[in-house]
Amino acid sequence: MAFFKNMLFGGDYNPEQWPEEIWVEDMRILNLAKINSATINVFSWAQLQPDEETYDFSTLDKIVEMLTKHKYQIVLATSTAALPAWMSRRYPDVNRTDFEGRAHKFGQRHNACPNSPTFRKFSAKLAGKLGERYGHLENVVCWHISNEYGGNCYCENCAKEFRVWLKKKYHTIEALNKAWNMAFWGHTLYSWEDVVVPNALGDAIGTEKTAFAGLSIDYRRFMSDSILRNFTDEKAAIKQHDPKTAITTNLMGTFKDLDYFKWAKEMDIVSWDNYPSYDTPISLTAMRHDLMRGLKDGQSFMLMEQTPSQQNWQPYNSLKRPGQMKNMSYQAVAHGADTIQFFQLRRSVGACEKFHGAVIEHVGNEHTRVFRETAELGQELEKLGDTLLDAVTPAKVGIIFDWSNYWGLEYTSGPTIELQYVDQIHHYYQELFARNIDVDMVSINGDFEKYDLLIAPCLYMINQEQAQKIDAYVNNGGHFVTTMMSGLVDETDNVHLGGYPGPLKETLGIWVEEFDALPPEKTTQVVFNDGTVSDCRMLCDIIHPNTAEVLANYGKGEFYADTPVITRNQKGSGMAYYVGTMLSETGMKRLFDELLKALPIETFDLPEGIEWKTRVKENQTYHFLLNHKNEPVTVTVPTAGKELLTETALSGTIELAPFDVKIIAE
Ligand code: GLA
Ligand code: ZN
Repeated sequence: MAFFKNMLFGGDYNPEQWPEEIWVEDMRILNLAKINSATINVFSWAQLQPDEETYDFSTLDKIVEMLTKHKYQIVLATSTAALPAWMSRRYPDVNRTDFEGRAHKFGQRHNACPNSPTFRKFSAKLAGKLGERYGHLENVVCWHISNEYGGNCYCENCAKEFRVWLKKKYHTIEALNKAWNMAFWGHTLYSWEDVVVPNALGDAIGTEKTAFAGLSIDYRRFMSDSILRNFTDEKAAIKQHDPKTAITTNLMGTFKDLDYFKWAKEMDIVSWDNYPSYDTPISLTAMRHDLMRGLKDGQSFMLMEQTPSQQNWQPYNSLKRPGQMKNMSYQAVAHGADTIQFFQLRRSVGACEKFHGAVIEHVGNEHTRVFRETAELGQELEKLGDTLLDAVTPAKVGIIFDWSNYWGLEYTSGPTIELQYVDQIHHYYQELFARNIDVDMVSINGDFEKYDLLIAPCLYMINQEQAQKIDAYVNNGGHFVTTMMSGLVDETDNVHLGGYPGPLKETLGIWVEEFDALPPEKTTQVVFNDGTVSDCRMLCDIIHPNTAEVLANYGKGEFYADTPVITRNQKGSGMAYYVGTMLSETGMKRLFDELLKALPIETFDLPEGIEWKTRVKENQTYHFLLNHKNEPVTVTVPTAGKELLTETALSGTIELAPFDVKIIAE
């Protein structure tokens, strides 16, 4: 069931930062762009609660009243993402302590200690009051708790709560010592009180890692859980008064800090903020959309924020080119977005976001390029109505994305600092993207059976149960691919003894004896059985096939020349592939030709820069044809049908304008 009656089109709106004459203008101007929704009250805590005892909703009342009068659907935020100054001063426990061990004072945002009893009390109280006051309103269509949660705190309250969290997980100090391998460097703990937080005052190496990755990974899990408890504190307070309205918070794609799969279980609907920089590959944005859709197993999501034009916080804040904002909006829709929202509706007058784009620019009227483009999109979305809401992506390929692996792979010491989890996942994703294959990003605990092909790059951290699930998937006919740096450690970063890749050895039919890290200036070669030669880099596994067949060997160059690098193992009625290095483009192409040959997965060969995606709703199929290039491109439309934006029939070979978008009902 769809959450909204039509596509929400709007964004962050902060009238409390402006005099009321401006509000009147806002209503007039935004109406011209068919803006139908506003996300309000995102950063107003200081105004709503001027001191400990006083709550003042008078301005918010006025804003809600005005928006209601103008028929806006309201996304109501709770304002708890920035602490009021009085609270920071009077109750220093609300402030975070950083990695260096410095206790912070008032300042910034996204800054509360998640384990501060004061913060927990005041934030839930405010959320409850908002729920009570506005929850019954029909046009409050979604709650937005806090804003872009993330970060760490290393204060004494967090240390205390960490000990509680650990006791619950490990029960005994002996089990904890074993989990973190504390016999190493004589770190054996004899009391829970011995546990200290993993920051610069303790076991730190650099700015993120410690000498005990198991400890750091557990702290990351603990922080993710602690912050999630802040979300559920507020959610519970709201639900007491308003059990029906959907509750979300805005996530950030492949953001590292929080285990979003775990978070999504507590969220009614996923929303996220899409801020690519000028050089972010289109395929990476696509992957992030797919990940956000994957969090709730394919459920459509909200595009809570994007800039209509410019950002301010990137090193280079290019304008979105004419047509590009629209193109990016439809890319979100193609991947499962049911809303298009901006940060923000009116551009700030001061502070660090004054040069961040907005629907209404500093000139203060509707006569701008950005506004015209917004208005054009508004017309189109109005026309689309509820047509696409809740449509699903019919993906037959799944890629596993897992936050424990993200942390594990990047907190471990060695073999190369070049290894980045998101890059490795994207390296595989982009091959599917280039062939216009729909992809789901799936949790390691997700349902694999619906996929013909399941890819798990760098599945570094895995337990027996997860390995068995993968083995069963292969036995039942699934095709599974994994890579170097897989099957190496258990959940607390201790190595699976008995040879790599640990519990995946049987499934893959191989034993990996060693892995070589090539320095950045070095590559070596891979030679496929048909003679195709590709470069490879970063890591080179030395592999012994047991039951697996060899698809490619290393070429000349290193001492492991002529030994296997890509293998395939038939197991039950499925196949398990292992890729023991990072292949260059030629190798990836050759590998995917091989993988896809045996599978009923449709590929679409379209010019570079063209994307083709599908969503299905009640037996109706919708295809999105997107030209991501700022130049015209000639394409042959893969499926003929009625184009929804122009309401004309579309087929054959056509010329797409720069950043053009077609939505084809098949
Ligand atoms: C984030 C925040 C917004 C705003 C934008 C600017 O997404 O949620 O409040 O700061 O960035 O890009
Ligand atoms: Zn803290």
